[in-house]
Amino acid sequence: MQSFMEIVTTRRSIRRFESRPIEDDKMMRILEAARWTPSWANSQCWEIIAVKDEKRLQSLAEMVSPKNPATLAIAKGPVTLVICGKKKQSGYYKGQQSTKFDDWLMFDLGLITQTLSLTAHAEGLGSVVVGFFNHEKAAELLEVPAEYEVVALLPMGYPDHAPSPPKRREVPDFLHNETFSKK
Ligand SMILES: Cc1cc2nc3c(=O)[nH]c(=O)nc-3n(C[C@H](O)[C@H](O)[C@H](O)COP(=O)(O)O)c2cc1C
Repeated sequence: MQSFMEIVTTRRSIRRFESRPIEDDKMMRILEAARWTPSWANSQCWEIIAVKDEKRLQSLAEMVSPKNPATLAIAKGPVTLVICGKKKQSGYYKGQQSTKFDDWLMFDLGLITQTLSLTAHAEGLGSVVVGFFNHEKAAELLEVPAEYEVVALLPMGYPDHAPSPPKRREVPDFLHNETFSKK
């Protein structure tokens, strides 16, 4: 069994999958883990659409720029999880914006997306977060109500390649001590 540190550091964005489907019990374990993601005041504003239908996946892939390296992952992968969020819920108290940031939806959806992708990796699966696509068209295709945003796509499947890790900033490059000016 991989340690948590190994899972975090060896997860890579996977953009090519084998055609075999993901077992239902595996997908349920991934979603069960995702359920425990933290969120603003436990608001859990997320909704996830699992798209497996080939034609629908093809239509979804057409909403991603052909230049996007993840397009084929959607078109050819066995499933894409569509990460949606209810607007004006996260970061709101009694319907009023609580902080300077309008909506914490993006933050909470980022967290659940990370839980999904790390758990998928721990289960031997690969995934890639896709944020560059036509969000309005995707919402239309998937009949998402107006009070929700379609934020990200997460194609997932058994990896068909093992990419090397893109370079990361070193800890001292982003760690500040006590105040921003002190590195
Ligand atoms: C919010 C977000 C949006 C992303 N959008 C895309 C995308 O549209 N297409 C793509 O191929 N990768 C996308 N990625 C994946 C990143 O390019 C990738 O995580 C980064 O290069 C680091 O590589 P690694 O995930 O293998 O460590 C996205 C990642 C995040 C977090």
